[in-house]
Amino acid sequence: MSEAKIALVTGANKGIGYEIARGLGGTGATVLVGARHRGRGTAAAEKLAAEGIRAVPLELDVTDPVSVSAAAATVEREHGRLDVLVNNAGVLLERGQRPSQTPVALLERTYATNVYAVVLVTNALLPLIRRAASGRIVNVSSGLGSLGITSDPTGPYAAFPLLAYNSSKSALNAVTVSYANELRDTRIKVNAADPGYCATDLNGHAGPRTPEQGAIVAVRLATLPDDGPTARFFSEDGAEPW
Ligand SMILES: NC(=O)c1ccc[n+]([C@@H]2O[C@H](COP(=O)([O-])OP(=O)(O)OC[C@H]3O[C@@H](n4cnc5c(N)ncnc54)[C@H](OP(=O)(O)O)[C@@H]3O)[C@@H](O)[C@H]2O)c1
Repeated sequence: MSEAKIALVTGANKGIGYEIARGLGGTGATVLVGARHRGRGTAAAEKLAAEGIRAVPLELDVTDPVSVSAAAATVEREHGRLDVLVNNAGVLLERGQRPSQTPVALLERTYATNVYAVVLVTNALLPLIRRAASGRIVNVSSGLGSLGITSDPTGPYAAFPLLAYNSSKSALNAVTVSYANELRDTRIKVNAADPGYCATDLNGHAGPRTPEQGAIVAVRLATLPDDGPTARFFSEDGAEPW
């Protein structure tokens, strides 16, 4: 096995995913820059490489089973294993609808990326993660997926009742715990990360934090030591309520 860790970040061509790739690259990992559009992935990887990071574009539409299995085959052929998987790609499709105005089709489209695709990608790559010495899976969730936080009427997110997005991230938290429990007897750790409210295309650059700040917790969870936690949900400041 080569010394450098092999890390794949989905949706790494921009926003928080790009900064997670940058942060992992900064630790010396070879970063596979997952992007559904080849040109965007190549441009991001070139930008990272200009900073001295070993970055390789990987075409990957997380919702497309053909694209996912082709990407897994590429990782196996080129690297033989995967040390880190960061499931970062995500969508927020609400445009001001209240829960009572939300069409089920909008939930379906949201879940396709934020929940089902995470399962698709994780299942495809898990055989390669099992070959790593200390596999790490990080699911990029959100404080908006925390029932503990959003159910508090005085809390910061009570004013954001995004039915599809919030519940997709709650489901992602449950997905995280399910994998962590299945893998508890292995060296693989599975955790969920809350980047905080960051200015990205996802929210029209409304968040007060930078994507770089948002990446910190995911990078930390992707590089946990072997005695680190699994089945947990963290922000940069520490444990978050589910
Ligand atoms: N921004 C925040 O305040 C915030 C807070 C909490 C959690 N998050 C989470 O952080 C993650 C990153 O979001 P962001 O804020 O950085 O948003 P962003 O700038 O919109 O980036 C989203 C990324 O996901 C990619 N993506 C979407 N659908 C995809 C698909 N089917 N296949 C592959 N890639 C796909 C996008 O690719 P394209 O460029 O091709 O569209 C893009 O690279 C998301 O999971 C989001 O829910 C964000």
